[in-house]
Amino acid sequence: MSGFGIYIHVPFCASRCGYCDFNTYTPTEVDTSHATYLDALERELELAAPILASQGFGPADTVFIGGGTPSILGADGLGRILTAARNTIGVKPGAEITTESNPESTSPAYFEGLLRHGFNRVSLGMQSASTPVLKVLDRRHTPGRATAAAREAHEAGFARINLDMIYGTPTETDDDVRATLDAILSTPVDHVSAYSLIVEDGTAMSRKIRKGQLPEPDEEVYATRYELIAASLEENGFDWYEVSNWAKPGGECEHNLLYWRGGSWWGAGPGAHSSVGKQRFYNVKRPERYADVLSAGELPVAEREELTDDIRHFEAVMLGLRLKEGIPSALVTAPTEKHERLGLVTRGERLKVTDKGRLLVDGIVTDILAQEPPATADGTL
Ligand SMILES: C[S@@+](CC[C@H](N)C(=O)[O-])C[C@H]1O[C@@H](n2cnc3c(N)ncnc32)[C@H](O)[C@@H]1O
Ligand code: SF4
Repeated sequence: MSGFGIYIHVPFCASRCGYCDFNTYTPTEVDTSHATYLDALERELELAAPILASQGFGPADTVFIGGGTPSILGADGLGRILTAARNTIGVKPGAEITTESNPESTSPAYFEGLLRHGFNRVSLGMQSASTPVLKVLDRRHTPGRATAAAREAHEAGFARINLDMIYGTPTETDDDVRATLDAILSTPVDHVSAYSLIVEDGTAMSRKIRKGQLPEPDEEVYATRYELIAASLEENGFDWYEVSNWAKPGGECEHNLLYWRGGSWWGAGPGAHSSVGKQRFYNVKRPERYADVLSAGELPVAEREELTDDIRHFEAVMLGLRLKEGIPSALVTAPTEKHERLGLVTRGERLKVTDKGRLLVDGIVTDILAQEPPATADGTL
């Protein structure tokens, strides 16, 4: 059993960053007020609770409010969501309760409010400490705001704080990445996520690249920047536990581990995805439609599928091999001698990528899965 979590999606942002294609809306793009959204969310959680209870799920081990920009709702708006989760599906005592926050919409009073409502972890979107890089990303905060917010959260009493960084942004230099790492390491955070920039189709950034206004990202650069980030964090008390995630001892994000270990979760909010046992489903994306369907007393599910053993096996290998703990070797029938010889994986009781292998994990997973026979057994870890 890998746990049960609640994910809540907040689909609002003050402006859209040029690289982001998440399901989020700026004020001019949406008619749904925050109050209408919160009412609808409460209804979804009320409808979800008995369905989950009938399958033995709940109360939750973890709660994660993500977005979009959850902090746009203020500490009291987020507190209302948490109260609704507690009163419906239920939240275990001692559960990890995280909210994402954008640095520019936080303050000491905001963090104090979150703590009062019962949040015990915050995740801040820093992205970079470089002014030109933040400009290319269309971020609204100034370079110092994210680290100042991390300090404010710590001073308010948060022991568990994440900073998200992005690397490989067009025009970024190695020195920009070093400056970002220095800034992160000057704060009391216990967790860092570092993701390479993905240029998503249909975003303002992809249009600029197509028109030649920005250079194309370079795979080689991604690799060297990853090595720079890993070395710096690992020399300074952070250990990797997933290829793109580092934590001080005990700082690992339990909610994300639950996703990667094949746990179950209910995702509430517009466009949110759920995975409950073998059922996968996701909500309608538009906040207006989401609120309308719920006010008619129905769940706003856009599509459902039942996971086959093959899909579960595929996901268990794909997600599990990105974890430092790896996967039980018995889960993989394919031969891995070639990868072992190249020093990319070790295979004992568990199959794990090595330090050399983690940079190449996607290729390793593809190779292994291409040789796997169809799954007949339960694909969970
Ligand atoms: C979708 S945001 C939500 C939280 C918050 N609004 C923020 O920006 O930090 C979560 C994380 O996804 C990252 N992200 C969004 N689009 C991305 C992309 N195209 N490539 C890499 N990371 C991306 C963001 O930068 C952020 O750190
Ligand atoms: S603030 Fe976060 S969610 Fe909103 S557009 Fe920017 S990256 Fe996307």
